[in-house]
This record gives sequence, structure tokens and C-alpha cells, in this order.
Amino acid sequence: MNTSISLEEATAGNISAERKPPGPCSIVIFGASGDLTARKLIPAFYHLCKDKLMPPSFRVVGFARREKTDDEWRYELRAALNQFSRTKPVDEKVWKEFAMNLFYCRGDLTDAAAYKKLEEMLTSFGSGPLRENLLFYLATQPSQFGTVIEQIHRAGLLHKEGAGWQRIVVEKPFGHDLASAQALNRELTRYAYEQQVCRIDHYLGKETVQNILMFRFSNSVFERLWNRNLIDHVQITVSEKIGVGDRGGYYEEAGALRDMVQNHMLQVLSLIAMEPPVSLAAESVRDEKVKLLKSIRPLTPEDVAKQVVRGQYFAGTINGKPVPGYRQEQKVKPDSNVETYAALKLLIDNWRWSGVPFYLRTGKYLPMSASEVRVQFRPVPNVLFAARGNKLDPNAIALRLQPNEGIYLRFNGKVPGISLGVRPVRMHFSYDAEFGAYTPEAYERLLLEAIAGDATLFIRRDEVEIAWQIVDSIRASWNSKPLTNREFYAAGTWGPVASDDLLAQSGHAWHEPQMVK
Ligand code: BG6
Repeated sequence: MNTSISLEEATAGNISAERKPPGPCSIVIFGASGDLTARKLIPAFYHLCKDKLMPPSFRVVGFARREKTDDEWRYELRAALNQFSRTKPVDEKVWKEFAMNLFYCRGDLTDAAAYKKLEEMLTSFGSGPLRENLLFYLATQPSQFGTVIEQIHRAGLLHKEGAGWQRIVVEKPFGHDLASAQALNRELTRYAYEQQVCRIDHYLGKETVQNILMFRFSNSVFERLWNRNLIDHVQITVSEKIGVGDRGGYYEEAGALRDMVQNHMLQVLSLIAMEPPVSLAAESVRDEKVKLLKSIRPLTPEDVAKQVVRGQYFAGTINGKPVPGYRQEQKVKPDSNVETYAALKLLIDNWRWSGVPFYLRTGKYLPMSASEVRVQFRPVPNVLFAARGNKLDPNAIALRLQPNEGIYLRFNGKVPGISLGVRPVRMHFSYDAEFGAYTPEAYERLLLEAIAGDATLFIRRDEVEIAWQIVDSIRASWNSKPLTNREFYAAGTWGPVASDDLLAQSGHAWHEPQMVK
């Protein structure tokens, strides 16, 4: 019997969301000599070229202070690509074609003459879309955003109305609290509409994070269960096996709450818990995310004391090797109270989720690097097998966001044999096994969406601001309170003991992300 299926059968039911390749444009990277350009942006553009996803004609201009020719910049980037490309070896033919589109513009961010030079360079590309359709990537300090925007506007490169399109791409941190985020947002939209601003949270570019919406809203079998009637609680873990490394200076200002919770974790939470949007249009999706964030119950100082745990790592062992404590890291104050770990219990006051705890945890120097959402169902009634003394595991669905991307369902099955033994078993979907090892970098997707002008994967102004409100209420309670002994954890362990107590209060326990392959 022939069991092979035709291509037509295999793709039956696929929803193809192919769209036209974006039109010609120029991309200007401000702060181009920084790490981000060599490490993420150029490898992403190179792969987009390799996959033939870039516009038919485009230019990438690096704007930075150091003196350099176009060829010198290309040479540097080519060397960096050896290190940072996700596919090896680098395809020379693709690189050569790509490199012809790379240009360097030397200039100081505060110097109007430098922007004039930039304008001349863009005009030299032609008077059409390469001059008018412009993507400005602000890979600078956020404190410089206002200056850059004012200058590009003055140089006639950025308009609210006019020929072509212009968009501004910015990365986190979007401020360090609500007030600074609001000020930043005002600067970003001084000479541009909100729709022209693409705020990147690289988690939204991850395949598995995007898949949350497909998983929830294209499968009736799961969506029917997705509410307080059947779900007991949800755990979102983003654990990292790395410490702060050489980012001590930045981390002292950020801490886990600002670095991970305000953005990545609240984004994942909003996708997991939001209502179905009326369409897949950017504003419909973002409206639902905002609605969800707004329904998170505000935390009073008393709630913070009961529902939020912070921690800081002290010296410990990672991969069998000793590692220093946070306070011994470079550029970290020896008596720093900055948290490298945070765990929260959030409640969502809406019809679907009332009473269901959402536990979020993230930290540095934890035992493994893994991001996972675990949705745990209510236990069965204590009759039949449970009444006979079997300890029954509640059912759970885990969405493994990284690594070993996949989804698994945990349920109970009979142990073969004459006894009535029951134990948890697992059904598992693995991205690798199903689709092959296709793991484009988040930046590839995000840059393409920014060029194409689809805002779905970018964070809207109100999303940022609500997320800050949540985080600010926690920070306000922590401020000026030094860490206590119970808030420290050894590097290489799962955070402070208080984090286990947080769940134990409601009879719950953290589940380690499963290393399924
Ligand atoms: C960044 C944080 O936004 O995300 C880092 O600043 C963190 O501290 C990183 O390590 C985690 O991203 P990923 O993609 O490795 O999970």
C-alpha cells in the first residue's frame, strides 16, 4: 500500500499568509558601530537576502561617529558575519551582492551637517523610493532618540505626511518607568505618527511566541479549555543559565523586572491570556493585548509583599565551574540591591480568568536556559483512581518557547500490568521533528515586518505604558528596602526559597521546564 501523500494533501488546510515582497527602501542605522549592528542586524539582512525576502532594491546606511570608508565598514561586517551568522559558511555570492548595498555615513548625532550629508547620500541613490521610503533604526542610547528624530526631521528625511513612507525602529529599554516612557513616546511621535514607530520586543519575533496565537485560535480542542472553568493556574518561566556578564552597568539600572518582566514576560502573558481579536489586523491584535494588560489586578504594597518575590544570586556553580555573585560582577556596586530574579503571582480580573493565578518567574544563573508556558488544568474529583491512593498528576499543556521548541500535553495513563497503577505520560509535538531545523532569528522577521509596515509584532505606545504601570507599582514597594537573607540564591539554583513559598500558599509548586527533544 502506498502511504505517501501528495503535496496537495500535505498542504491541505494550510493557511498561506504569503504576501508580496516589500517595495524598495533605504534603511539607516544610527549607532551603527555598536554591537547590535554586527551581531544581529547585518546577519539578519544577509539572511533576508539569502532567502530572497528583501525588497528588489534597497540600501543600508550605517551612521556612526568613527571615520571609516564604505569598504572598511563592509570588511568589518564581513568578518563579524563569520562569527554571528546563523548559517555557516557564509555564502560569498550572496554576501557580495548584499555588500554592494551597504554604505557608511560618518557623523555625530548632534551635528546638523552630518544629517545634511546623510540626506545627500540618500538623494544620490535616486529621487524615488530609495530616497523617500526610509526605515530609521535607532541603535543608540534612548537619551539620544529625541535628538536624532529632531535632526532627521530638520534634514527633510522624516515627515508625518508627504512622499513615500518613513518609519522609526527602537529597541528596549522603552524608558525606565512610566514617566520616562511617556516622555520617550512623546519624543518619538513629535515628528511622526504612532503608526510610524516600531517598538521591538524581540520575543515577538520568535516563531514559538507567534505560534501562541495560532495554537489558541486555530484549534477548537484547546481554545474550549482555555478559561477558569478548567484551568487551575498558569506558569510562565523564562530562565537563563547565564549571569549578567559584562552588562553589569546596564543591569544595575534595570534589574530583572525592567529587563525581562516589563517587556518579554508581559508580552507572553498577554498572548496566552488575551481574548480572540476581531481580525489579524495589527490594531485588532494589539487592542486585545492592551485589554488583557489592563485587566491585570493592580498590586498594592501589601499585595507586592505577598505576591512578588525578588532575588539576587550569590557565588555558586554553573556547569561544574564556580561563578561569582552578582555583587562581585564588573560595574556592580558591592552592596547592590538590584534583583537578578523575580517571581510574581498576577490575577486577571476578567470573565475568562477570574481567580486563576498566573505565575511568572525569570532569573539569571538558574540551572537551565529555557522559556516555557505551563498551563495546568484542574484536578479530577477525588474518586476512582485518586480515591484508591493513586497520586494523580493534574493534566498540563506546556508550550516550550525555547530551546527544543514544541508543545506537549501531559495526561495520565495506565501502567501496563495487573495493577491499576496510573502515571503521567506525554504527547509531544516538536518543531524540529515536524518542520525541520528552521529557526530564523527573531530580527529577520521583525526587520521584514518593519519594512513591510505591518505593526502586529511591534509594541504599541499604550502597551508599553500599561506594562510600566504594573512594574512601577512593584518597584515602588521595593525601593529603599535592602535585600534580606531570604532573597539571595546561589548561582545554579532555582531562585530564592521565597519563590517556592509564593506558590505553596495556594497549594501549587513550580514545574521545571522539561528538556524534551
Ligand atoms: C534581553 C535581555 O532583552 O533578553 C537580556 O536584556 C536577556 O538580559 C535576553 O538575556 C534574553 O533573550 P533570549 O532571546 O536569549 O531569551
